[in-house]
Amino acid sequence: MAIPSQTIEQIAAANDIVEVIGSYFPLRRAGANFKALCPFHQEKTPSFHVSPQRQTFHCFGCGMGGSVFRFVMEYEHIDFPSAVRKLAARAGIPIIEERRPSEDRDREARARLLRLHSEAAEWFHDNLMKEEFAEPAREYLKQRGIDRQVAKNWQLGYASEDWHTFSKWALGRGHSRSDLLQSGLVKLRDEERPESDLYDRFRGRIMFAICNDVGEVIAFSGRLLQSDAEAAKYLNSPETPLFRKGKVLFGLHKTKRSLIEAHSAIVCEGQFDLITLFEAGITNVVAPQGTAFTEEQARLLKRFVDEVVLCFDADEAGQKAAARSLDALLQNDLVVRVVEMPPGQDPDSLVRRDGTEAFEKRVAAARDFFDYWIDREVADADLASLGAKMQLARKMADVIGRVNNASIRKEVIYKASARLVLSPLDFENLVPKPTRGRTTDMPRDMDSSVPAQVIKQLCVLALRDADTRKFLLSQKWREIIAETPGAELLGRILSAEIEIEDPATVSTFLASLEPQEEAKLAEWIAPKRIAYTDRNIAQQWWFSLEAEGVKRKLEALNNQMRMPELSAGDLVNLQKEIVDLREQLHEICKLSPTRESGS
Ligand code: CTP
Ligand code: MN
Repeated sequence: MAIPSQTIEQIAAANDIVEVIGSYFPLRRAGANFKALCPFHQEKTPSFHVSPQRQTFHCFGCGMGGSVFRFVMEYEHIDFPSAVRKLAARAGIPIIEERRPSEDRDREARARLLRLHSEAAEWFHDNLMKEEFAEPAREYLKQRGIDRQVAKNWQLGYASEDWHTFSKWALGRGHSRSDLLQSGLVKLRDEERPESDLYDRFRGRIMFAICNDVGEVIAFSGRLLQSDAEAAKYLNSPETPLFRKGKVLFGLHKTKRSLIEAHSAIVCEGQFDLITLFEAGITNVVAPQGTAFTEEQARLLKRFVDEVVLCFDADEAGQKAAARSLDALLQNDLVVRVVEMPPGQDPDSLVRRDGTEAFEKRVAAARDFFDYWIDREVADADLASLGAKMQLARKMADVIGRVNNASIRKEVIYKASARLVLSPLDFENLVPKPTRGRTTDMPRDMDSSVPAQVIKQLCVLALRDADTRKFLLSQKWREIIAETPGAELLGRILSAEIEIEDPATVSTFLASLEPQEEAKLAEWIAPKRIAYTDRNIAQQWWFSLEAEGVKRKLEALNNQMRMPELSAGDLVNLQKEIVDLREQLHEICKLSPTRESGS
């Protein structure tokens, strides 16, 4: 998207956060702020705060927080551009998007491809419903328990066995050769020769229209009517400008409301599984279509639910896909449960065999992924052998290290160590520390080291105190921040065009951050008074960071001095550098008298 940042600021300014949130549910005044029960987690006493001065919200219970845009995104489960448009519409602000000519061309090409897909879906569907040659397909669907109404609900179609029916029809409708080729629905007989004959990619297959989350057809998946050793059972569209398999969840456009209501998604492998569950009344379902979950699919799903219930086939492929899905799901803080399927069954066959209620019972009884996993890992291990036990412990610790959520991780460590008959502390030591610094389950600062606290205070002041901001901007801040570990956020705050007196510019900046960072900052700047208003203190903090950087460089040079194979020239140069740095340090410490001594 390219909505100019001035427009975003204008939209932020025109949408008072108290009014916007107050239009969703009542807010109660509490001093300078407003309060309510948090809509993002269950609670009995209100810890959800809205600050009219700062135009931010923050929940002290669950850590969610940010600007008015973040609120609308989270509450309505929409992405940033949609939230911006919604708030623009609310305030009657027209959005004129900045576009480059190439963007215009992309947009037109995309529109043409979408039209082609939409017309093709309709055409395949008409074939299935009416054409003589589709009789075997109708018979096949009937056998699988799919009636005309269901076929219509899902716009199922049929591609004839002929090699050219589709391409002839599409050319006849005015679609260009190049669009047909780009859609992947049509292929060249000789790929080397662009003028060679076209033929249809999908032949003799039941066609599933694959839609994006707003219901536009962006690809197809085709199933053969009978198994054939030569050809794949399912054939999908290739990657195109509209379609990347790892980004799409089949069925999402129809199931998202149910997902939001259920807070939970049943994940099954295939299109037939999903359709059968949906038509049987189990509607909070998605299908990654046979592959393991990707990071993008997990993130997409996290917009709607907090939990997934994996319902993969009992065969080996299904179990592998389940195992490979785990990382992406855990990284996105989704709680994962697993339905154990009877051998040889998939959700499609199981609902048909046992009925909706029995299936729902299975889903309700689905165990936490880790309980299921611990059982499986421990089942065939020989715990009497210390070597084998430690090997298994290390393997399990590696997996647990990928759990992002600290409280889930703790719980799993307890469970696994108990089953392994190891002390929880010993076992915990084997678990790698999480790599992504997320804050969702621990809104308080975990890092209480001095530099981290100093950086935090400087971030707050750079957003709230005009004098401190001016002072920092007058320093060589880019250089110093680049050399200070953990100071990237401060760097971003300083590079942003923020007017402290204008909360809209702060909101616009917050909206440009990742949600975790936005929530962290919203919390930091939430307190009514700034803890330290003395500008000198801010300056001293800053100089202490600068001094830390110089000390780190000095230390590195001192280490280099101890290297055995230095030439006389090297030594002189190093010594000169060291003298320079010592002088710098001295200068900084003169400016910052309270912190001259230190490590
Ligand atoms: N799949 C695929 N390509 C294949 C095989 C499978 O894209 N060659 C995807 C399809 O989305 C399929 C899903 O993986 O629905 C699960 O595969 P499988 O269990 O083999 O198929 P079913 O859904 O059980 O299909 P059917 O009931 O039609 O046999
Ligand atoms: Mn299956």
